[in-house]
Amino acid sequence: MLSIRVFGDNVLRKKATRIQSIDDDINNLINDMFLAMYSAEGIGLAAPQIGRSIRLFITDISPLVEDSKKEIFINPQIVEYGFEREDYEEGCLSLPTIREVVKRPSEIRLQWQDETGKEFDEWVDGYRARVIQHEYDHLEGKLFIDHISTLKRSLLKKTLKQITSGEIEVEMSEKFEL
Ligand code: NI
Repeated sequence: MLSIRVFGDNVLRKKATRIQSIDDDINNLINDMFLAMYSAEGIGLAAPQIGRSIRLFITDISPLVEDSKKEIFINPQIVEYGFEREDYEEGCLSLPTIREVVKRPSEIRLQWQDETGKEFDEWVDGYRARVIQHEYDHLEGKLFIDHISTLKRSLLKKTLKQITSGEIEVEMSEKFEL
């Protein structure tokens, strides 16, 4: 089982590189990522979170959104944002026990490939857009706590230290984290 990297690991702060060919290695990795995500009761997982700095993330928001299915995003690119922004509480498997309200655009236009190499270009909204933006940040070396105020961030200092030192583990996360 792949282990999930947490705050303090440098791989989470690197900009991930494009995937050149969707080969067996990538497909095996995708399968292993789904296993790791489901076992941690997550609904989204980006490749840097398991130590691979490549532009790939997976989602399965079906526990929260009816009629949704698991999805694979390879070399995603946000090409446009809607005007509206909304608040939503986020959690992250790489930041166990932390939850904060983050303001993000409600709609995005995303281009990506799936595991067969098929290309997509769609406007996405709702919870799906929220999860995608959170995972996309992981590919840019960003975390959701980068979006909160300096004051709120300073209040998390002790918890962040405990995550870095291993006192707080992924197993202590709540359900449905990203
Ligand atoms: Ni996350």
